[in-house]
Amino acid sequence: SADTLTAVINLDLPGPTISRHIYGHFAEHLGRCIYGGFYVGEDSEIPNEGGIRLDVVEALRALRIPNLRWPGGCFADEYHWRDGIGPREERARTVNSHWGDVVEDNSFGTHEFMQLCELLGAEPYINGNVGSGTVREMSEWVEYLTRADDSPMAALRRANGRDEPWQLSFFGIGNEAWGCGGNMTAPQYTHLARQYATYVRNHGEKPVYKIAAGANVDDYGWTESLMKSLSGLGGAHAQHTHVQGLSLHYYTHSGPWEDKGDATRFDDEAYYVTMKRARRMEELVRGHAAVMDSYDPERTVGLVIDEWGTWWNVEEGTNPGFLYQQNTLRDALVASVHFDTFHRFADRVAMANIAQTVNVLQAMILTDPDSGALVLTPSYHVFEMNTGHHDANSLPVGIKGTVPTREVEGSEVSLFSASASTKDGTALISLSNLDASSARTVVLDLRGRTVTGHSARLLSAPTLQTHNTPEQPDAVSPVAHTGIREHAHGLEVDLPAHSYVTVQLQLG
Ligand code: AHR
Repeated sequence: SADTLTAVINLDLPGPTISRHIYGHFAEHLGRCIYGGFYVGEDSEIPNEGGIRLDVVEALRALRIPNLRWPGGCFADEYHWRDGIGPREERARTVNSHWGDVVEDNSFGTHEFMQLCELLGAEPYINGNVGSGTVREMSEWVEYLTRADDSPMAALRRANGRDEPWQLSFFGIGNEAWGCGGNMTAPQYTHLARQYATYVRNHGEKPVYKIAAGANVDDYGWTESLMKSLSGLGGAHAQHTHVQGLSLHYYTHSGPWEDKGDATRFDDEAYYVTMKRARRMEELVRGHAAVMDSYDPERTVGLVIDEWGTWWNVEEGTNPGFLYQQNTLRDALVASVHFDTFHRFADRVAMANIAQTVNVLQAMILTDPDSGALVLTPSYHVFEMNTGHHDANSLPVGIKGTVPTREVEGSEVSLFSASASTKDGTALISLSNLDASSARTVVLDLRGRTVTGHSARLLSAPTLQTHNTPEQPDAVSPVAHTGIREHAHGLEVDLPAHSYVTVQLQLG
């Protein structure tokens, strides 16, 4: 009937590959993300390796984190890497003026970050300092990390205990140059980025993927400026001038910037505003991709959404500069709809990094500052449920029937979101029912391949405000979903109100 919602999926028409790197993460020297989150120091009672918390590593390994961005964020443009190498007790003490104005003892530096990446099995994404650093400093950091012979920086690295060079996958040419990264205009940053990127040399066999500090939200002019000047220079000097990616930052909140909304105390209206703003990511990716297409129709330059997620008011009694917030089922649905967008634009979105992994903004893990207890958030579970999309081929999802919508702030917002992918004789379908109070059933019209088996998982909770705590760590966690049946066209799936469901298919 007209009211039946049907998702049509052609299983034999695989589209572009969804890079696993869209499931990237971000760890800044901010609040308790590094210190007290990832890193507790070697003397801690919490089991650690070189000061890195092993339970955090173990939990994150289940997400198969493809890349980790560090050391910022705004912190990156005031970070001087030489402060963070050598014997820890001799390292410089500096001030983290962006985040809480606290003293930074630099006990977590380059070696510790690279060790963390090795423990996680993640590729490093280091963000360089354009705002207050020099070209030479940036160039020497890359040499220190990646050079094998007895060059001055390779020798310095060896003197600090690391013989072999590391593999550096991604390098950011500054961060938010339009704001905390130097308050620059687009032409000003574009010129500087060309200069700085030139000296990020490839010392090893693996070329470094360079990422220019891109636009804020809908600043399409910024993207245009970068595309005009930084991409497609071509010719003999291309290797040294080209950047491979441009970043984009966009955060979701339900209120204005000055009062972003509460993480756990929100009503249905604030929930729907949140979903409307989360779904805006689609408009932004489409807009920036259109500008990029006009300069780069072959889609060789990647859009790197290296900061996204919810940003709420900080929890009561916590340092306003530490950006510590709770994480509910609502945050999980914000994540699921972002991933649907990234899957749909797999041929342009090369990478994305949720902000941030531990104890900051939309985190995967929250740790208690006193007891040290660790909690996995609802957002963590969306990342885990989506690991099957990593490096899979996207499958377009066509929708038939009446999509439920709701009017929010003067426009209609769709309350249903879906995406799908296929790899290795399987398919994974993601279904989000964003309706706060009504369940729905969706028919999966599966065409082109025989389905030989299926299973489903459900992430939901009695209320959208439900979150995990040390006392109730599994209040929001995935369970096997029994609301799935065979149907003349394929399958029929029940979606409870405010739920996220994944359907895994075995294909014949
Ligand atoms: O993720 C928190 C901050 O948000 C980052 O440091 C900055 O780049 C952005 O403004």
